[in-house]
Amino acid sequence: MSDPRPRKSAAKPRHVAIIMDGNGRWARQHGLPRLKGHEQGAESVRTAIRACRNAGVEFLTLYAFSVENWKRSREEVGGLMRLLRHFLRDQERELHENQVRLRTIGRLEDLSPALRADLARVETATRAYTGGQLLLALSYGGRTEIAAAARAIAHEVRDGRLEPGQVDEACMAAHLYAPDVPDPDLMIRTSGELRVSNFLLWQLSYAELYFTDVLWPDFREEHFRAALEEYARRQRRYGEAS
Ligand code: FPP
Repeated sequence: MSDPRPRKSAAKPRHVAIIMDGNGRWARQHGLPRLKGHEQGAESVRTAIRACRNAGVEFLTLYAFSVENWKRSREEVGGLMRLLRHFLRDQERELHENQVRLRTIGRLEDLSPALRADLARVETATRAYTGGQLLLALSYGGRTEIAAAARAIAHEVRDGRLEPGQVDEACMAAHLYAPDVPDPDLMIRTSGELRVSNFLLWQLSYAELYFTDVLWPDFREEHFRAALEEYARRQRRYGEAS
């Protein structure tokens, strides 16, 4: 099994993961309903996808909806789901044009059948593309993902397909939602919060973390470039001596 850790010397991240935070605050600052903040946030998603393409970043994972986000009001959850369907329809052509593969990670079974069907259709249609990958984390939780992997492994052990002694880091990683995707090199969180918030808990082990005060709806290509520049200045040691 190849080493999943990001490359030590890479000046450019291969995989960027983003916690898109601050939509609500942006809306409040502009005297608008929260949903308008998410709508503006969806514009920033388009910007981030383009910025990745321009910078040659191969994998982009976006925390679009967490397992905890179901606790928000019905109106906000419904609005976010509508926005996602709209975004999918709107982005599909661009995914094809740029040969980008769409993938999803998370408890997809929580989503409506209509949204699941839309996602499955685009995922299938873009499956063979090699121009980059866009991963949407939907009804996603890092602990949920790790627990699901542990459950799958437990079943295999119970059925005699795996020995307990074979359960190591590589085995765990192989049971995560997208086992073939390299771990993120860089995790960006907007809006000044200094937390990981249950995002990619296993995969972020060696990632460089970048926090900015910019609210997600204000996030532009120049902010993305600033994160990449900061990343290029970091030295990644993976616990080794400097
Ligand atoms: C956090 O802001 C953001 C979310 C919970 C949802 C993210 C969704 C989008 C950016 C738009 C839809 C996504 C796609 C992929 C089209 P918050 O509401 O927690 O902000 P706050 O902390 O300021 O209240």
